[in-house]
Amino acid sequence: MPSKLMELIAQINSSESDRIACLIADACVGGALELAKKMGIKKVAFWPQAATQLALLLKIPNLIDDGIIDSDGIAIQNQIIQLSPDMPAINTAELSWSCFSDELTVKIAFKLGVVQVLKAVKSVDRNICNSSNWLESGTFASFPDFIPIGPLLASNRLGKSVGNFRKEDSGCLAWLDQQPPNSVIYVAFGTYTIFDQNQFEELAIGLELTNRPFFWVVRENTIEDVNNAYPMGFNERVHHQGWMVRRAPQQKVLFHPSVACFIGHCGWNSTIEGISNGIPFLCWPYFADQLFNQGYICDYLKIGLGFNKYDSGIIRREEIKNKLEQLLSDERFKERALDLQTKIQNSVREGGSTYENFNDFVAWIKD
Ligand SMILES: *[C@@H]1O[C@H](CO)[C@@H](O)[C@H](O)[C@H]1NC(C)=O
Ligand SMILES: *[C@@H]1O[C@H](CO)[C@@H](O)[C@H](O)[C@H]1NC(C)=O
Ligand SMILES: *[C@@H]1O[C@H](CO)[C@@H](O)[C@H](O)[C@H]1NC(C)=O
Repeated sequence: MPSKLMELIAQINSSESDRIACLIADACVGGALELAKKMGIKKVAFWPQAATQLALLLKIPNLIDDGIIDSDGIAIQNQIIQLSPDMPAINTAELSWSCFSDELTVKIAFKLGVVQVLKAVKSVDRNICNSSNWLESGTFASFPDFIPIGPLLASNRLGKSVGNFRKEDSGCLAWLDQQPPNSVIYVAFGTYTIFDQNQFEELAIGLELTNRPFFWVVRENTIEDVNNAYPMGFNERVHHQGWMVRRAPQQKVLFHPSVACFIGHCGWNSTIEGISNGIPFLCWPYFADQLFNQGYICDYLKIGLGFNKYDSGIIRREEIKNKLEQLLSDERFKERALDLQTKIQNSVREGGSTYENFNDFVAWIKD
């Protein structure tokens, strides 16, 4: 890739009107950023997760020096760390690379996902984050070089996610229109989460037991045999109560006034999409930074609850029903979610922090 990218930049740059001033790349594409350095153009890393995760990355050498992790990224003992007093706590069992069950995978994830990325983000001129001062004020105060320019949620293309090729089911909005305001449970687990049959059935029955309308996104590769995964008679029984789709226009769904809460995997995109719409969460993280994000939602922002797992590691139907009742019967969750939504909406308007950061950033590129 690098040689092709170099050609491309040179080619675009050769036209008088299209001088390349700056290269912005995901922090995981370190090669592109290195190239920018070589070619003498400004280089900016885009960070798509919580900024606190980026902070953690930069502190890795300290974590190794302090004996908290070893040089392969393996946590030496489970403990809670906090990079500064007003930043959220991080459980070392939930470091994004250590979610895998075997040590070899953890080492590889650390090497490729952490050490390489660390090298890239240390060499750039700016780190821009898809986050907001309102979400991670402590982190941005402690790491003033990180620039929060998020949420990058273009309201004028609401729901038209450019990064995904799967077809969305748009008929679902008509179904949402028929549901009472603030009543629907939205259930979606992002791109990667996989269920085993047992857990899938518990979730299905748990949703049914809530007696509330639910909207459930079931990707075809959520489970091995998706067509035969539902419990016996489930589809007939929930005919009026539930709506299942393969893929949903998530931002439009979360924006819909019928939606009351979000049961999901806590990916960062989904987390901010929920927050931007004032929706409280029930957290069901699967891997990587999602475990940390759950703590963020439940303990730091206090706009959601997590599930307890039973001995076999399963989240049971009763637990799903009970947690849902607990979340929806305590109005403080919704109040805090709405308060955050207002702050975030204001931050992207003229005079808001994200708005100003973005303008300054563009001015710096043009300079
Ligand atoms: C782009 O072209 C300008 C003018 O010829 C030159 O000064 C600059 O170094 C070029 N930049 C890159 C990245 O090729
Ligand atoms: C930035 O975050 C928003 C959620 O606020 C998400 O919808 C969007 O896809 C993210 N953009 C990128 C480029 O990661
Ligand atoms: C987050 O959103 C961006 C922009 O839509 C997308 O490119 C990216 O793949 C999303 N992240 C994940 C983990 O799906």
